[in-house]
Amino acid sequence: MIGVLASGSGTNLQALLDADLPVAAVASNVGSARALERARAAGVPTAVFALENYATREERDDAMGEWLAGHDVELVVCAGYMHLLTAGFLARFPAINVHPSLLPAFPGMNAVQEALAAGATETGVTVHFVDDGVDTGPIIFQETVSVLRGDTRETLHARLQEIEHRLLPEAARLYVAGALRSAAE
Ligand code: GAR
Repeated sequence: MIGVLASGSGTNLQALLDADLPVAAVASNVGSARALERARAAGVPTAVFALENYATREERDDAMGEWLAGHDVELVVCAGYMHLLTAGFLARFPAINVHPSLLPAFPGMNAVQEALAAGATETGVTVHFVDDGVDTGPIIFQETVSVLRGDTRETLHARLQEIEHRLLPEAARLYVAGALRSAAE
């Protein structure tokens, strides 16, 4: 079973749901995340693990890990999840992340804006296994996108998201089918 972590609008979560992947649980660090509404609409259990409700990040991730394990989660997919995961959490679950740049270029939360600001002529999408760095870990897929004259953060991100919505479900599908394993397994 797949557990999805999402902090925002949840279009990547929607792509996973639309691909009929076995999403058993959706957790967020943000109670108002639209991703939670998408999960509820699909009948998938949700929970919020806001950092401010725990003494430490480790305690928060331990609680989130317990909840996910209680829903038989074996693979975690980060679909716009904007917090780092602790080493303890990552020792418990393999995790896949999607990121809107050609990593290692432009890690972090503002990858699209930073690619534009740097004058990059190409950027892209990376799907990778998660380690305890910021948008690091073994790469599963990368696909390049040209930056067009006149692109804004919105227009470029929209083209990148079309690719994300194809590559992230494909990586999850391969993992569930047993065709993909992280180096740690
Ligand atoms: C996606 O573009 C994803 O690549 C990015 O957040 C967006 C979430 O969109 N993730 C990161 O920047 C991770 N560092 P969504 O909520 O519509 O799926």
